[in-house]
This record gives sequence, structure tokens and C-alpha cells, in this order.
Amino acid sequence: MMTYRRLGTSGLSVSTVGLGCNNLGRAGTASESQEGTDAVVRAAIDAGITLFDVADMYGREPGVSEAQLGKALGSRRDDVVLATKFGLDMGGVNGPDWNARGSRRYIIRAAEASLRRLGTDWIDLYQYHAPDTLTPIDETLAALDDLVTSGKVRYLGHSNFAGWQIAEAEFTARDGGYTPFISAQNPYNLLDRRLEREVVPAVEAYGLGVLPYFPLANGLLTGKYRRNEVPEGSRLTHSRQNVLETADWDQLEAYSAFAAGRGVSEVQVAFSWLAAQPSVGSVIAGATTPEQVRQNAAAADWTPSEEDLAELDSIFPAPAA
Ligand SMILES: NC(=O)c1ccc[n+]([C@@H]2O[C@H](COP(=O)([O-])OP(=O)(O)OC[C@H]3O[C@@H](n4cnc5c(N)ncnc54)[C@H](OP(=O)(O)O)[C@@H]3O)[C@@H](O)[C@H]2O)c1
Repeated sequence: MMTYRRLGTSGLSVSTVGLGCNNLGRAGTASESQEGTDAVVRAAIDAGITLFDVADMYGREPGVSEAQLGKALGSRRDDVVLATKFGLDMGGVNGPDWNARGSRRYIIRAAEASLRRLGTDWIDLYQYHAPDTLTPIDETLAALDDLVTSGKVRYLGHSNFAGWQIAEAEFTARDGGYTPFISAQNPYNLLDRRLEREVVPAVEAYGLGVLPYFPLANGLLTGKYRRNEVPEGSRLTHSRQNVLETADWDQLEAYSAFAAGRGVSEVQVAFSWLAAQPSVGSVIAGATTPEQVRQNAAAADWTPSEEDLAELDSIFPAPAA
């Protein structure tokens, strides 16, 4: 049964498991086509997922994931929380940007292009995909605030911000009277706990919710990759092979044994551990098939005990302070 929680201390309610939409229209996946996308999106809605997380640059060409997601949602658009992002290189689709994709000029154009592709009048959560190193955060926040005031955007989030940038943005919003960011999207999973050092304390201090990306570490935490066994047609089989080459198989085998000992799957452990972190708003995993969506939607339903969490800490140590 899907559960719902507030994103940080905001009023925005999201499903505990969301759908990461970077596989929609991605070359070589079952969800590359519109039909494949429709099947994944339908399965997500049927499973109670409300948060759909896309970005303008996702897809075999920039814009394809947004366009396919918009079509797949169709008349169900009102029933979901649509999150998208701007700020990574669109290869000129939004005109020249001189690498200042947090600038007022760029943001307004990017937002209008996303609205057109998604086929909607508003974006529920508009996220700054990665900070640009040129534009002062004051200008970015002022432009985003105008989008909120005009009704084109409801809430703001950021992604790949460091702890100090989260604090800087928070106090700039307070000083300027701008709409603040309510979410932080950063890589976070049992194998990558770097977030706990600076980002988690910052979001807890300012009431933001975390949207952990790479919750399954590219699929490594699903248990489908074994020391000498690689499944056909999976992401790490054909790309990012260095992830498999450098994997710590002793650690992953201890993880599989931990899951088996509790009668749950590896995917359940990966999702439920994230969902048990107080700062986490929604676990957004990408999926390429309806079956994966159904598994993931049901995977945050295991409640780890204090002993379980301590044992996971011993398999996957928290980063040193
Ligand atoms: N903000 C950012 O900078 C940023 C960066 C990256 C991602 N993201 C967001 O985060 C989302 C999640 O990222 P991700 O998709 O790369 O996450 P991930 O958890 O690291 O990997 C997901 C992949 O694992 C496999 N998988 C998923 N569910 C499975 C299951 N139940 N059983 C077996 N295999 C399964 C699928 O690939 P195969 O079927 O190919 O194995 C899927 O594409 C993205 O969709 C995107 O919205 C954001």
C-alpha cells in the first residue's frame, strides 16, 4: 500500500516512492518508445505513485522524456505531482546560454519550453538541476519567484547543491522575500552516503525534503548483479561497466545475506532504508518496465528495526564526520 508524506515542512504531499523519468525516451530501453512510456506511467499511477520526476534534458535527445511523459499522463495530469528541472546543457535547444543557466534570461525561456513539451499550464516542483558557477543565487531566486507569482510554477527545488549552497540560498530567499526551495535532490543510497556529511544537516535545519537519486546505485543494489553473473539487457551490462568492475562484492554479498535473513528483497532493503531516513521525502527510482515500477512502488513497506539499521551501518558505514 503506497504511503504519502510532506516534502520537507512544505504543504506538498508526495508518494513515498516516486518515479524517476530519465528512462522515458532513453535509447535502448523498453521505455524508449511512447508505448513503453505509457505502460510505465500507467503502472506507476495504478500503484499509487504521485511524484513524477523528469528534467528538460532527459531522453535520447533533450526534451524527449518530458514530451513522452506529458503525453502519457494526458488527462491524469491533475492527479499527479509533476516535477521537472532546468539548468543542465540542452545543446542549444533553449538558444545560447553562455553557461549561465541560472540567469533570468535563461530560466524564463527554459520554463516556457518545458511547459510546452509537458503539455501543461503549470509545473508542481521546478528544480535547479545543478548550480551554475556564474549567476548570483539572488538573480536565480528572483526569476524563479516570478514564475511562482505568475502561476507557472507551484514549488521550487534544487539538485546537486552542497550544504553551504543550501544555506546561502535559504538566507538569500529570506533576505529578498523570495519563494524558498523546499527540496534537495542529490545522490543517496546505501553505497553512497556522502550526503549525510553536509547536506542532511542543512536540509534538516531549514525544513527541506530530500529526493534521493540513484537509490539503487544504477541497479547494483537490486541483487540482480552477482560476482560472476551479469543479467542481459540491464543498464550496467551495456553502460557504466566500471561500476561492476569496482564493486565490492564481499559487501554486496553481505547485503544480500542481510535481506535473505529478513525475508525481504534487496530492493525492499534499499528503498525502506532510504524511506526510514527522516529527511527523505520520496525515493525516486527510474524503471524501464511496468514490473520494475510495481516492485519499486511496494518496496518501501518494510520497517527496519534499530538493530537492522545498526547492522546496515556495519555493512555500509556512514561517512566520517
Ligand atoms: N538530479 C540529478 O542530477 C539526477 C541524476 C540522475 C538521476 N536523477 C533522477 O533520479 C532518478 C533515479 O535515477 P536512476 O534511474 O539512475 O536510479 P537507480 O536507482 O540508480 O537505477 C535505476 C535502474 O535500476 C534498474 N531497476 C530499477 N528498478 C528495478 C527493479 N525493481 N529490479 C531490477 N532492476 C531495477 C533499472 O535499470 P535496468 O532495467 O537498465 O537495469 C533502472 O533504470 C532518475 O530517473 C532521475 O529522475 C537525477
